[in-house]
Amino acid sequence: MRRAIPADREEACISAALGKGALDVAREATEIVDDQRAVLRARILIGDPAGIVGRVAMVEERGPDQSRARMEAIPQPGTAQLGRAELHAGEVAPERGGGADDHDRPVRHRHQDSPVGDDADTMRIADFALERFFARWEFAVEHLLCASDVQGMPMAEVLALADDETRAMWEGLTLGYTESTGHPLLRREIAALYDDLEADDILVFAGAEEAIFCLANALLSPGDHAIVTWPGYQSLYEVARSTGADVTLHELREDTGWSIDLERLRGQLTPATKLIVVNGPHNPTGMLPDRATFDGLVALAEEAGAFLLSDEVYRFLEFDEVDRLPTGADSLPRGISLGVMSKSFAMPGLRIGWLATRDRDVLERCMRLKDYTTICSSAPSEVLALIGLRARDAVLARSRSIVQSNIERLDVFFDEWADRFSWVRPRGGSIGFPRLTVPGVSIDDWSAGLVETAGVLLLPASQFGYGGNHFRLGFGRTDLPVALDLLERYAEATLR
Ligand SMILES: Cc1ncc(COP(=O)(O)O)c(C=O)c1O
Repeated sequence: MRRAIPADREEACISAALGKGALDVAREATEIVDDQRAVLRARILIGDPAGIVGRVAMVEERGPDQSRARMEAIPQPGTAQLGRAELHAGEVAPERGGGADDHDRPVRHRHQDSPVGDDADTMRIADFALERFFARWEFAVEHLLCASDVQGMPMAEVLALADDETRAMWEGLTLGYTESTGHPLLRREIAALYDDLEADDILVFAGAEEAIFCLANALLSPGDHAIVTWPGYQSLYEVARSTGADVTLHELREDTGWSIDLERLRGQLTPATKLIVVNGPHNPTGMLPDRATFDGLVALAEEAGAFLLSDEVYRFLEFDEVDRLPTGADSLPRGISLGVMSKSFAMPGLRIGWLATRDRDVLERCMRLKDYTTICSSAPSEVLALIGLRARDAVLARSRSIVQSNIERLDVFFDEWADRFSWVRPRGGSIGFPRLTVPGVSIDDWSAGLVETAGVLLLPASQFGYGGNHFRLGFGRTDLPVALDLLERYAEATLR
């Protein structure tokens, strides 16, 4: 009889294999190997307080009326080894990602209990920690000093940018379903953002988020391997992992300016690597690879025969235009660019994003998945996005001027507070990832006090599953000067 490891035996099996108590276990999936054996994929916390979250494969061999467990590490280059436990996507040893004076803590993105019970063999996606955090705070605080977008444009301002054709489209708009692939004029306008693409190389989605969801599910399945930079936007690695694929995180570190390490990345490739995911300008660090690194990435992806997903949602916000990189879609046949109206174009409320690639087969597969998510985009949003993209010079100039004056204000702040905060100045985008360096003060506690006292919200690194005392700081909003003054007053009172 084919049976998976029963839920009530998981913990006992894992404890036996580890030779010590597993403090917390979250089953991810059970794979049946044959009639006698099953591999349990689980996320396991061992050791406390310096807890280590690891993921190990447990093989249970079943006799007629007995079973035993032993540990079998899942071989995967590029994952950190600690004792016999292996670290995988989303789980890091707590000493990583922070300086010695940091308040390290193990942070995990937890799996929710499945509404269909705990015995299902299906992969379950972890909560999106950042979105849950924003669900709690975004509309409850006065100053969002950690927002990733640029101050949303008023609709009247967008409409004022319409040309004759788009104004007529707006005024004569019928609220019916729209074309699943996206309005042809919108796709044509999006294609114009790339050097060598046409409308049919574009597929429109409800934001970048839907595009990530469809792409990961279209490309990946159990047995595949993906490499994703980290810390990062959680869905870039979480959706990939939920497909059953193995995900290796390519860790970016403050002490190297958050840069991508090509040699380390090369070592993380496996014959099963199907997807490499990068994001620049980067959320949350503001890192932007230099041209040589980007070219190296493209070469590595080509060598590996892997797809390269280039998350370019902050493109056009480079502080120096000469740093703007070629797009992923223009750089290799298997290059896929992710774009959105939410960040540089300052229109997150439209929920219009896109994938751009010359690989039509990939777009076709994503389209079939989109049939189960949104089917098609919102009709008014498509027209407003078209207006915004046709007027992109004006829209982007507005965004850049907000970001530019805010980053200058931040330069002054971090200069004055250099002994309390470390700061790798971003090279683009609208967010950065400073670190509170005051011994004995944890960023979670400090930012909780800040929001309570001054109504200013920061996003502690724990929301990225990242240990240490970093926090995300957004500088795309027009209230930054006021929010930063409030933060500074709170810092004077608590950190001096
Ligand atoms: C790097 C990155 N990719 C994708 C997204 C998703 O964009 P949207 O929320 O507009 O769908 C975000 C949003 O914060 C992001 O920061």
